[in-house]
Amino acid sequence: MTTCPTPAPTLRLETPSPDLLDDYIQACAETWGHVHNSYILHDPATAHEWRSHLLDDYRRQEQGLGLPDGFVPSRTRWLTLDGRYAGTVNIRLRLSPQLERYGGHVGIVIRLGLRGQGLGTAAFPLAIAEAHRLGIREVLATCEADNAPSRQMLLHAGPARTYRRRADIDGVERDVCHFWYVV
Ligand SMILES: CC(C)(COP(=O)(O)OP(=O)(O)OC[C@H]1O[C@@H](n2cnc3c(N)ncnc32)[C@H](O)[C@@H]1OP(=O)(O)O)[C@@H](O)C(=O)NCCC(=O)NCCS
Repeated sequence: MTTCPTPAPTLRLETPSPDLLDDYIQACAETWGHVHNSYILHDPATAHEWRSHLLDDYRRQEQGLGLPDGFVPSRTRWLTLDGRYAGTVNIRLRLSPQLERYGGHVGIVIRLGLRGQGLGTAAFPLAIAEAHRLGIREVLATCEADNAPSRQMLLHAGPARTYRRRADIDGVERDVCHFWYVV
């Protein structure tokens, strides 16, 4: 008996679109409470309020419209695995003093049910390439020193200038790893 080879899964960074909205809301419900910072996802309990303007909000954030104090313009892309929502990548188009200390250019989250399978490691180079397309030549990524999955993912993402700093995160002084990738 012959067996057909299983096609390799397709991982893409895509513009957020209405056809993935329900899947995104489901992922928020699964993942809420398991993120380093809640800005990158949305509270599923209030999805009825934000679902109708989410995609507009992303566009406005990219144009720098209506941002909270201290925020810079950013582009959000959804990571899809074989067409299903798998995570979010957020690319800050420039650094603020706060982002230089913690946050950097690139934030990423993988939905909870898909973690630990190599997706973050496979996706992060796509995020760096997207930052490059946006004109960022030196890409900063940061993680808390005790966030092992994130640190490993960033180490795998290629040669980087790395160092540790103390930074204030939500009022608490923490050790933060900095990774600068020259693209
Ligand atoms: C960080 C994150 C994006 C990594 O995505 P992921 O798909 O789970 O990561 P991978 O499966 O590619 O694993 C990356 C590394 O972490 C390690 N890892 C995974 N889960 C781990 C755990 N619970 N404890 C320790 N290491 C772990 C893996 O072994 C791998 O390292 P290795 O290749 O050296 O063995 C994901 O965990 C996440 O969304 N976390 C919450 C948000 C966050 O912290 N974002 C990063 C801010 S920069």
